[in-house]
Amino acid sequence: MGTYQDVYEGAQSDATGFWLEAANGIDWVTPPQTALDDSNPPFYRWFADGTLNTCFNAVDRHVDAGGGDQVAIIYDSPITGNASKMTYGALQTATARFAGMLQSLGVEKGDRVIIYMPMIIESIIAMLGCARLGAVHSVVFGGFAAAELATRIDDAKPKAIISASCGHEPGRIVAYKPLLDEAIENAAHKPDHCVIYQREALAADLVAGRDLEWHAAHENAPELPPVTVKATDPLYVLYTSGTTGQPKGVVRDNGGHAVALAWSMPNIYATGPGDVYWAASDIGWVVGHSYIVYAPLLAGCTTVLFEGKPVGTPDAGVFWRIISEHKVKVLFTAPTAFRAIKRADPDADFLENYDTSSLEYLFLAGERADPDTIIWAQDKLNVPVIDHWWQTETGWPMCANPVGIEQLPIKLGSPSVPMPGYEIDILGEDGSVKAPDELGSIAVRLPMPPACLPTVWGADAAFVEKYLTTFPGYYETGDAGYKDADGYLYIMARTDDVINVAGHRLSTGQLEEVLAEHPDVAECAVIGVADQLKGQLPLGLICLYPKSTKPVEQVCAEAIDLVKTRVGRVSAFNLVATIDRLPKTRSGKVLRATMAKIADGEAWSMPATIDDPVILEEVATALKTLGYPKPTD
Ligand code: COA
Ligand code: AMP
Repeated sequence: MGTYQDVYEGAQSDATGFWLEAANGIDWVTPPQTALDDSNPPFYRWFADGTLNTCFNAVDRHVDAGGGDQVAIIYDSPITGNASKMTYGALQTATARFAGMLQSLGVEKGDRVIIYMPMIIESIIAMLGCARLGAVHSVVFGGFAAAELATRIDDAKPKAIISASCGHEPGRIVAYKPLLDEAIENAAHKPDHCVIYQREALAADLVAGRDLEWHAAHENAPELPPVTVKATDPLYVLYTSGTTGQPKGVVRDNGGHAVALAWSMPNIYATGPGDVYWAASDIGWVVGHSYIVYAPLLAGCTTVLFEGKPVGTPDAGVFWRIISEHKVKVLFTAPTAFRAIKRADPDADFLENYDTSSLEYLFLAGERADPDTIIWAQDKLNVPVIDHWWQTETGWPMCANPVGIEQLPIKLGSPSVPMPGYEIDILGEDGSVKAPDELGSIAVRLPMPPACLPTVWGADAAFVEKYLTTFPGYYETGDAGYKDADGYLYIMARTDDVINVAGHRLSTGQLEEVLAEHPDVAECAVIGVADQLKGQLPLGLICLYPKSTKPVEQVCAEAIDLVKTRVGRVSAFNLVATIDRLPKTRSGKVLRATMAKIADGEAWSMPATIDDPVILEEVATALKTLGYPKPTD
């Protein structure tokens, strides 16, 4: 196969040859003759003359090859005490029926279907069932509130919505159906039908004529064979946070996605047919889409679907139990999960109860992997810990240590080197390429490799404006960092108003828009403050109208409530303080970065353009009331 260098340079010098070769990893209805269609820049399309079905590739072809009895999905739910397994054969029948059910409800190729579900096998069946029919799924994370769901309903305009009666969070049951009903009521677009999976813990009320009960609708549905789609047809839309309250619908195509993900399994993750692969994430995030569902199944692996938390379900040994019980070869999660385990069980005493020798690699992504956590995980598990870097927009890693090709030296704090097709530059504000070790904006030269977003759902102009305009000829990642002399990348910060909370992307702009709706809030700013467990937490500073007569504590509590109700509990929004005025430059720009430095106890200098320096003292006092900066250990 050659070295990483050979593979990377091969892909750069002959992209057509490289990606057509990679396309052989997929079963096509019409094999593509061309790799890249670059006739309409900056809209690039991969494998434009190819046709296929993604569900067929993830399921049927393994059954056709005699793998029907192999386990496709291991469902392990310590939070409910349930566990089960589903073979590829059973998954084929279930997805075929699901697709048949959708079709009988009037859903056709190209129609959108929203999936608002907890971590149960039916969620995967729903995603694959959409893919089988050629319908475009849009999974909305279960921790989002009704208003967020409504925004997505209005953007995606789904013909059907698939949901469940409830989710399970530690100590409480989250009733999904009232949230779904509220979202549909508030959305301008109305789906024709909802299919509701009734879970044991809670039964949902169904709306006559609109809602169907999953079992009744699915059990006897006709089995639909895979519908052929173009490689460039959309497989799914996944919404992600940007600078404003309007989430962006990242589009994923069928062909490029299948090729890139199938390539990634042996080459990046050193995983192949029959191996047990576990991405401890949620199907609502891109990691869940790519590495709980599509990539492991495309590769013929057994994927683990985990409904629980790294600690507290029931203890900090649950990851080790799952590795040993299911013989997991590769674990992929966010560093937060390991920080939580390390905090609860610093010496990893729980490990003594389990044999984790099946584990060969731990992969981390979603947020910066701090060296302490990497070293702890490496020491305790005795496997290489591989940091890798990617985004919802790319669908697969931009940078990684491709252990399936060769394991490169691990440098702590770096997600290593670019994957094939990603030509990554560090750019200055004027677009000039920075020298090694110099900090700048991280950008990927166009065209991007297969699987990367071809556009934003229904918004070609917004795609160009948000991603392709700042640096002509490049995709702007929104991350800042540098490359060292060996070409290793270091991700240091975001260049926009996005913060990263427990591996989830949150828009501070969006939180500000919600806070500003509170009738007593005249002005506000949300900053990300460092947090030992979750990486960052949002912190709101609000200025009240002089006419406000409510006690300050009450307004703060209401502000927290408002964000949790509008955005969802996943915002982890618990920190609010009041100040008289926001610190601004003379031109009116709020000094968020300076406030974040004060909160984090970092060195900061008085901006020369500040309107009134006294306000920053007031900010520091307000932050102290919330315990910031945190005392150092
Ligand atoms: N449905 C409803 N509510 C949800 C939810 C879901 N699917 N997922 C999370 N929530 C709620 C939680 O109950 C919590 O509510 P609370 O603050 O009122 O208690 C809130 O959203 C924040 O959730 P979470 O980020 O999971 O924090 P936590 O404090 O419950 O747990 C960790 C902390 C570290 C254990 C947890 O963040 C974790 O497992 N992180 C792993 C990171 C990860 O998987 N990232 C995915 C990207 S790769
Ligand atoms: P999301 O689209 O939600 O997966 O978030 C992507 C963002 O998470 C990236 O743009 C980075 O800011 C951050 N991120 C992901 N992986 C890493 C990593 N390995 N190191 C540092 N930051 C990361």
